[in-house]
Amino acid sequence: MAGSNLQNVWREQPVAADPEESFTLPGRYYTDPAVFAQEKERIFFRSWQYAGQASDLENAGDFITCRIIDQPIAVVRGRDGELRGFHNVCQHRAHELLSGRGNLKAVITCPYHAWAYGLDGTLRTARNCENVKGFDKADFTLDGVRVETALGMVFVNLDADAPTLDEQAGDMFADIAADLPWIADLRPYEREARADGVADIRGAMAFNWKVLCDNCLECYHCEPAHPAFCDVIDMDSYRTTLHGRWSSAKSRLLKHQNAAYDVAPDAANRKGNFWFLWPNITFGTMPGQATFSVFVIEPVDALTTRTRGEYLAMPGETVDPVRLAYGQDVLWGEDQGICEAVQRGLSSRGYRQGRFIVDAGRSEISEHGVHHFQRLYAQAMAPV
Ligand code: FES
Ligand SMILES: [Fe+2]
Repeated sequence: MAGSNLQNVWREQPVAADPEESFTLPGRYYTDPAVFAQEKERIFFRSWQYAGQASDLENAGDFITCRIIDQPIAVVRGRDGELRGFHNVCQHRAHELLSGRGNLKAVITCPYHAWAYGLDGTLRTARNCENVKGFDKADFTLDGVRVETALGMVFVNLDADAPTLDEQAGDMFADIAADLPWIADLRPYEREARADGVADIRGAMAFNWKVLCDNCLECYHCEPAHPAFCDVIDMDSYRTTLHGRWSSAKSRLLKHQNAAYDVAPDAANRKGNFWFLWPNITFGTMPGQATFSVFVIEPVDALTTRTRGEYLAMPGETVDPVRLAYGQDVLWGEDQGICEAVQRGLSSRGYRQGRFIVDAGRSEISEHGVHHFQRLYAQAMAPV
């Protein structure tokens, strides 16, 4: 049958260099398990990932654990004061070694058959190995991963060849410190109330990780989707700025009394500032008490995402419960609903790819931050 069904003539367009002329990433990138398998190798196992707080690693023997998708990782403070990262897996028959966080008295002991490793990752004892032909403990040292810290946060990278965190984002951490001079005083807030001490605020959510990254990187949706946010944040002041592998979105308080939560007249912070570090880490603060959050947008599989992170506040200070409830229940609730609806749409046979709404002045509603992310994505996923 003759016809002009667009689907028959549509050809996939690349994410172009110029955001004003670029199409968005085609829907199939958000649904295909084969794409997700490539993302693990080309993006997540090559980038700096948030592991936890340096304040949990102050003493010799302190350790934290995390996971980069399906890769268990541990970071340990050695007797020599060095921080070391390891693949958190026993070299005998692959039991995970450490869980949660804590302090090791002398060695890392595997819960399965009790092989014991030094805090430097070398195998110290393996029961009965002296009676095994040709057994050499030196063959079973834990595999290391790279570790760097910035602003009290610990990051790991599985790629021995990746640029340093400082090379990729040193200027971002300097920008955060300049904007939030009180950040060094903050400490993890009420983490004992949360499982694992991390802010997994909503559990497993039914959308691809990039849907939430895209959503975090523009405020085109803020007016229709977040009415209370637009009452506490001055939308006219909201500006997104792009850098190599990170971007920032900065704005100011609009009204002390507003539909989201009240901000005290003498509040320590009048900024709503957010940073995004490629590929999946957001940092931010909202007007009011001095607080800071780090959230990792963590894929589980192509169609499932979790968030993991930490909420920091001044030691001994209680954060206004109305504000906490606004952030966790209202704002995140609104975004979760959006992201789930987008995911359903991305699987539709009636959707191909869209256009970025990017204006010449890069206004408060311009989507150049999303384009920046998707362009980095397209480059990382390009065949090498
Ligand atoms: S798997 Fe660790 S000691 Fe056997
Ligand atoms: Fe949002």
